Amino acid sequence: MVDSARLRLGVNIDHVATVRNARGSQWPDPLRAALLAEAAGADGITAHLREDRRHIRDADIDALMAGLTIPLNFECAATAEMQAIALRIRPHAVCLVPEKREERTTEGGLDVAGDEARLAEYVAPLVAAGIRVSMFIGHQPDQIKASARIGAAVVELHTGHYSELHAEGKLVEAAAELVALRAGATLAHGLGLEVHAGHGLTYENVGPIAALPQVRELNIGHFLIGEALYMGLGPAIEEMRVRMDAARL
Ligand code: PXP
Repeated sequence: MVDSARLRLGVNIDHVATVRNARGSQWPDPLRAALLAEAAGADGITAHLREDRRHIRDADIDALMAGLTIPLNFECAATAEMQAIALRIRPHAVCLVPEKREERTTEGGLDVAGDEARLAEYVAPLVAAGIRVSMFIGHQPDQIKASARIGAAVVELHTGHYSELHAEGKLVEAAAELVALRAGATLAHGLGLEVHAGHGLTYENVGPIAALPQVRELNIGHFLIGEALYMGLGPAIEEMRVRMDAARL
């Protein structure tokens, strides 16, 4: 059976901080953007505290925890430093992602299968603290099965490759990637995992991902922050919501 509940939209506000940090000033303020997103109907806010603090900073996370009424999905690498922060702030969810200093964004999924014993140990205190742990992974069955075994509640399937193929006009390859994502979502759901998806989603490519019945939440950032330049953040989010809901009918 597939959950029929409404598809949630998590808005990633990292790139509000990217713009702020470009000037070393206080503006634009990620919390203000998050509150606008909340008012526009976002179901949650995602923020990635990278090891190098290139966008979101520790003080942003504290401000989000204090100021939001919707859940915070705290995205981070599986390091001791981030685990300590997560256990201190106790966000609704922690999404574990791979992190390389030289990458521009999170390029691939986490290798849960290749690091299973360490990650099992890593997530245990987070789960014990009542935090929903999400693994940001590719659609490969071994990664999904390993995520279930280590005690994660959620897998977020990486849609970056699908999005790239779509943007390059490689629609046959994008369709094949979608088939693999659908199979991954089905497997994960069957194992009792909640299924999320995200990375690179836009108005043009969100429909087929939003239509996957096992997917309960999409996390979308870069495109929405860009679109906000033209139409404002609230309307940009509302338009995404319309497209997600239309795909779900
Ligand atoms: N989900 C995860 C786990 C991510 O790392 C990111 C990017 O930070 C996103 C979703 C959002 O991707 P985008 O900014 O391309 O919409």
